[in-house]
Amino acid sequence: MKLTFELRPGIDQVGYVDYNVRDFHSYDTRLGATYNAYLVRDEKVALIDTVKAPFAEQLKRNVAALVALDSVDYLVCLHAEMDHSGALPEMVRACPNAVVVCNAKCREALAGFYDVSDWKFQIVNSNETLSLGKRSLTFVNVPMVHWPESTVCYMPEEKILFSNDAFGQHIATSNRFDDECDLPKLLEEAKSYYANIVAPYGRQTLKVLDVVGTLELELIAPAHGVIWRSHIKEILDEYPKWASGQYAPKVLVIYDTMWQSTELMAEEIYAGAVEFGQTLAKENPNEPRLDVHLMHARKTTLTRMAAEALDAAAIAFGSATLNANLMPRMAAVLAYFQGLKFREKTALAFGSFGWGVGGPEAIHKTLETLKYPVLDLSPLKAKQRPDATTLDACRNAGAALAKAAWERYLGDK
Ligand code: FEO
Repeated sequence: MKLTFELRPGIDQVGYVDYNVRDFHSYDTRLGATYNAYLVRDEKVALIDTVKAPFAEQLKRNVAALVALDSVDYLVCLHAEMDHSGALPEMVRACPNAVVVCNAKCREALAGFYDVSDWKFQIVNSNETLSLGKRSLTFVNVPMVHWPESTVCYMPEEKILFSNDAFGQHIATSNRFDDECDLPKLLEEAKSYYANIVAPYGRQTLKVLDVVGTLELELIAPAHGVIWRSHIKEILDEYPKWASGQYAPKVLVIYDTMWQSTELMAEEIYAGAVEFGQTLAKENPNEPRLDVHLMHARKTTLTRMAAEALDAAAIAFGSATLNANLMPRMAAVLAYFQGLKFREKTALAFGSFGWGVGGPEAIHKTLETLKYPVLDLSPLKAKQRPDATTLDACRNAGAALAKAAWERYLGDK
């Protein structure tokens, strides 16, 4: 099969739509993914990014359908991560006259992954322009969005930003522009992508957004997902909220349980928060409703939990005690969130124990490490089955989390 589609005359998407990927280095790609590569045919021919190594033949077929491979002048590498550079060695072999164009850090990263000893490189610095004839590419380094060598490039003649990972979404679809898809679904996937991939680098992302804000844009062509054409404003409105960690009126209750004692506590915390939200809704009919999620950690993917956590203002984390510690899935959740460096959340540790202690205490300790402000009654514990008094305390804790979430939301408005 060969399958390409045109963005503009002489500019085509030649990458690969992967309907089958379900695990992208732990990211749950339930909707599949795409690896976008763009071929620009001008006086010079440039391929911007490649695809994952297993799809190199498909990329080569797509490029060869449009130009002779020996007429490719530039293989532009905006990011060395292997979902974009994996097919680069094959393209270097297949395009004997091509020079690899990238920044110095990218060359270093590529040399760490591949044998580049016989590759021809042209190193470009930030703000440097590469002329392709009638059109050109201006490179802007965007370090740590999300790797040190990450780069975007802008084509002023066509007002196209080739944004690599930024503004991407993990979604496989035959519809290739934003206005051919359901916008809320796209924004949800873009948010999930941001939360799971870019979130640790919010400060750097905000700097990039300042630069992007100065550009005239008709297309944003990311390396994953659909191309932004009709909803550029919408995605550019959302990104600063995500990058700054803007709070939504949202509470999460994330827990793992052995024999349902911690689950009973979680349900009561959830109910307390929902009840508080119902009162808020009556008092504030013109405000958004408080959103409360009950998430069993072993029945919810890390990807989904992170996507919801990005803008949550308060989170309760619960675990039963296992071997004088927290349960392994909750350890994974906390480790994952720690790495993603979300803005602080008002928090609560809770959970049950039998003859030993340790589950809720371990969560509480981690929350302190994360510098999350915790409710006074944290860690909230139940010995074996929670009694009525403990369940009342859980309900009150849910209401307190909801109140804190609401205040954080109002503070950010
Ligand atoms: Fe899509 Fe950071 O690679």
